[in-house]
This record gives sequence, structure tokens and C-alpha cells, in this order.
Amino acid sequence: MSGCSNYQLLSLAVVLLLLLVAIDASSQNQSTKADKMKSAVFLSPKFVLKPGSVSNKDYYNIDFPKGHIAIKDFHAEVVDEAGDPVPLYETYLHHWVIVKYYQRKSDEFNHSDIISKGNSGLCDGVLNQHFGLGSETRKTASYVPDPYGIEIGNPLDVPEGYEERWFLNAHAIDTRGVEDRFGCIECRCNLYNVTKDEDGRPIEPDYLGGLKCCYDETRCRLEKGFKGSKKGFYLKYTVKYVDWDDSIVPVNVYILDVTDSWKKPENSTAVAKHKCQIEYSVESCSAAAAHAHGCTHTKKKSFSFPVGGDVIYGVAHQHKASLGSTLHGEDGRVICSSYPIYGKGKGPGNEAGYVVGMSTCYPKPGSIKIREGETVTLVTNYSSVKMHTGVMGLFYLMVAETSPKANSVLHYTEGRGTESVKVHKVVGASAVFGVGLLVVATVFCLNKKRREEGYESIVI
Ligand SMILES: *[C@@H]1O[C@H](CO)[C@@H](O)[C@H](O)[C@H]1NC(C)=O
Ligand SMILES: *[C@@H]1O[C@H](CO)[C@@H](O)[C@H](O)[C@H]1NC(C)=O
Ligand SMILES: *[C@@H]1O[C@H](CO)[C@@H](O)[C@H](O)[C@H]1NC(C)=O
Ligand SMILES: *[C@@H]1O[C@H](CO)[C@@H](O)[C@H](O)[C@H]1NC(C)=O
Ligand SMILES: *[C@@H]1O[C@H](CO)[C@@H](O)[C@H](O)[C@H]1NC(C)=O
Repeated sequence: MSGCSNYQLLSLAVVLLLLLVAIDASSQNQSTKADKMKSAVFLSPKFVLKPGSVSNKDYYNIDFPKGHIAIKDFHAEVVDEAGDPVPLYETYLHHWVIVKYYQRKSDEFNHSDIISKGNSGLCDGVLNQHFGLGSETRKTASYVPDPYGIEIGNPLDVPEGYEERWFLNAHAIDTRGVEDRFGCIECRCNLYNVTKDEDGRPIEPDYLGGLKCCYDETRCRLEKGFKGSKKGFYLKYTVKYVDWDDSIVPVNVYILDVTDSWKKPENSTAVAKHKCQIEYSVESCSAAAAHAHGCTHTKKKSFSFPVGGDVIYGVAHQHKASLGSTLHGEDGRVICSSYPIYGKGKGPGNEAGYVVGMSTCYPKPGSIKIREGETVTLVTNYSSVKMHTGVMGLFYLMVAETSPKANSVLHYTEGRGTESVKVHKVVGASAVFGVGLLVVATVFCLNKKRREEGYESIVI
């Protein structure tokens, strides 16, 4: 036979491969992640507020999607009893956090049967939520891009005799009719008229504000004579998810805190603790400082990152007066910068003067990596034109510790599915090109054969 056969076979193989890939891609198109995406909307238990009052309650075993799934998005906001969104200047959402735990299967609720199963770090015992934000909740993107997902409900992870459940802590402050709205949301101790914390321990005189002063059932000072009624509210949360399958690449959640006390261990056997204070204060700048370099309060903290992987998502959590935050790698490169979005109007999600959103980072997967043991540095900035109490400097990261499988590229969508459509087109075009190549190759070979073997005509 002629030397053509190999070429022909090769072309045929290429075409078949491309066709298979194209068929695979179009069948994925038929049932894209978007089609399979489920959405569930839940309400927390009702909490009741009156002007000035604080609700900071824990709710165990909240409603949550069941089964082995990948969480793709998580949104929350405060709504009233009619289900309408409530603006931050009425009900300030200080924070909400959702934490996973395992509970022994039984009818009776028993705290000692609980195993908390928080995120992947870094703080010891605190900030272990998988999901959670504050006032910025309405305008902060939180979807997990394809092919990634936050894996939950894997039966293999749940200890024998236990089941996976979810815990919610929501902290809201009713600022209708208060004397100093922004003082109340910064939990100024003088406005709450408290001298002891929630556990009855005296509050140090130099502690001017923060969570110790605005615990559950405390009340911020009202304008003289203000009267307002009690109102019921819910945290409404929307969870988007897909059934788990092997094409989904799991991401782990890390929360870094700029108040972490971590220090580089002196030797390899020493264990470095991550004692996180969660909040801190910003002193107002002096006139001289304002003149010399403006009034930015910068706080920095470095820690060693425990795993290596691809950064899939990053966002900072900061309060009012935030000027943004950056996480740097050891070589100084920017892993992610996140900036506040301030409201400019009146409606829920656009309340003037409040942080109503934070910008997020969705690096192209693989483009931003953290090495195992790399020293990363978190920088958080606040305006210090005025003093601020109870501010926070957290950084929330999703890290994929495994690289996506080669074929998973087909699932990669830059959040909105454009990329995957492009990939399908490219694959389709390649298949067409492959068929063309086969035809050309066949004709070429047949002509060659004809020339070589003197065949007159061959019908194909
Ligand atoms: C692929 O997806 C597009 C848009 O969702 C749809 O219009 C089209 O019919 C799908 N093609 C196949 C083969 O399922
Ligand atoms: C809770 O569980 C612990 C240990 O399993 C047990 O000792 C205790 O009696 C239980 N408490 C109640 C109220 O059931
Ligand atoms: C502040 O608290 C003290 C007792 O803790 C109480 O006597 C006083 O009336 C309170 N002041 C206001 C304005 O509520
Ligand atoms: C390692 O450092 C810790 C303190 O950080 C110290 O207590 C311990 O003795 C040191 N171990 C060795 C082997 O040097
Ligand atoms: C924070 O402020 C410092 C100056 O104090 C500046 O160099 C840095 O770029 C700022 N970072 C962000 C994210 O705004």
C-alpha cells in the first residue's frame, strides 16, 4: 500500500478525537452547570428589634440544602415581615456568619454533641465560617466560578452517627431614631451605656467601642422623645448549588485577619498560634500627619500560608471608613485588592455613607498561585480623618488545592458563561477543520494512488 495510509489514519484519528470532544462539549452544552443550577431561598428565624436595640443571636440547625452538593453562590440580606428589603440606616447588618457543624442524630438538642467543622483557617477557634459578610452583603459578588465549587454534604466526611448541619449568627442594630447612627454601628460604649461585657466582665476604660459593647439586647442611645414600634425581621439567604460530580474542583475557604497575633515560629517544632482579635480601632490623625501624608490608617500583618494552590476568589471585609485592602505575596506581588463600594442614595443596597459592597477578585484560574508556606501580607486601610472603633480587616479567599483536570477547561466560565461558549465554538470549528483536513487528505491520497496505481476513477 501507499505511504498515504498513515497520513489518512492520522487525519481520521484527529477528526474522531475532535468530533468526540465536540460531542462531549455539546452534550455539556445541553446540560450546562447553569441548567443544573438549583436555587433555594430561606428565611432565618425571626428576630425582633425596637429603635436602638441590638440582636446578636445564634441559630442552630438552620434550613440549608441537603445532599452531596457544590455551593456556587450565597447571598443574604435583611428583610421585614412583609419580605421587603430593609435599608441599612434602619436595620444595620453588622455581620452574618454561617458555620458548618456535625451533630449526633437524635431528637434532643445537646450542645455537647456538636463538632464544629469550620473553614480551612487561619484563625484558631474564630472566624471559621464558610459564608458571611456584613453591611456590604447586597453588592458583593460571591459566586464560585466553574469548574469550582464549595463541596458540602459529602457523606464520607461526616462522622458515624452524626449529620451535617449549619449554624447562623446574625448581628443587627436598629438605628431608627438614634442620636448617632454611625456611633451606634461602630458600637461606641458610651452610646450603649455599658460598663460590662456580655459575660459580666468589666470593660477596660481604654476600650471605646466594638463588639464588647453592642451585644445581644443592648440598646444604643435614642434622640430624646423618639418613639418607634417593635418590628420583626429575617435574614433572607439564597443558596445556589449543583449536585456534586467529579468534574467539580473543590475550593477551600480561608479567612485571614489583620489582627492575627501569628509570629514566625523560632524552630520547626514550635506551633505558631493564630490568635485573632477580629476587630481593632483607628485613632484620628493629627493635623500634622494630615498635612504630611493624608489621613490613612494602615495596618499590616504577615503570616505563612499553610497550603499551596490557585486563588479562585478573594474579597476583603471592612467597615465604614474603609479605603481598601490588599493581600500581597512574599515577593510583593498583589494576590488580590478589594475596595469598598459606598452607597450614594436611599434604597436598600445604595444607602449613602455605608459600605454597601466590596469589589472582588476572580483571577483566571492558575494565574494567581500561593505557594505552600509562602509568607503573605495583608494590608488594610481606613480613613483616619475621624476615629473609628470596632473596625475589621478580614480577607476571605477561596483556594483550589488541586489543579483542574484538563477537560474541565470546557466548564470554565468567567462567571457568566461567555468563555465556555467560546470554547464550544473553537471546538466546533476545529471539528469542521478536522473534517476538511480528512477530505483534503483523502483526495490527496486518492490522487496519489491514482497516479501511482493508474486507477481511472474512484467513487467515494
Ligand atoms: C447550547 O446552548 C445554547 C444556549 O444555551 C442553546 O441555544 C443551544 O440549543 C444548545 N445546543 C445544544 C446542542 O444543546
Ligand atoms: C448531652 O450529651 C452528653 C454527652 O453525650 C451527656 O452527658 C448529657 O447528659 C447530655 N445532656 C442532655 C441534656 O441530654
Ligand atoms: C446607664 O446605665 C445605668 C446603669 O447601668 C443607668 O442607671 C442609667 O440610667 C443608664 N443611662 C441611660 C441614659 O440609659
Ligand atoms: C522551639 O521553640 C519553643 C518556643 O518558641 C521552645 O519552647 C522550644 O524549646 C524550642 N524547641 C527547640 C527544639 O529548640
Ligand atoms: C494602603 O495605604 C498605603 C499607604 O499607607 C498605600 O501604599 C496602599 O496602596 C494602600 N492600599 C490600598 C489597597 O488602598
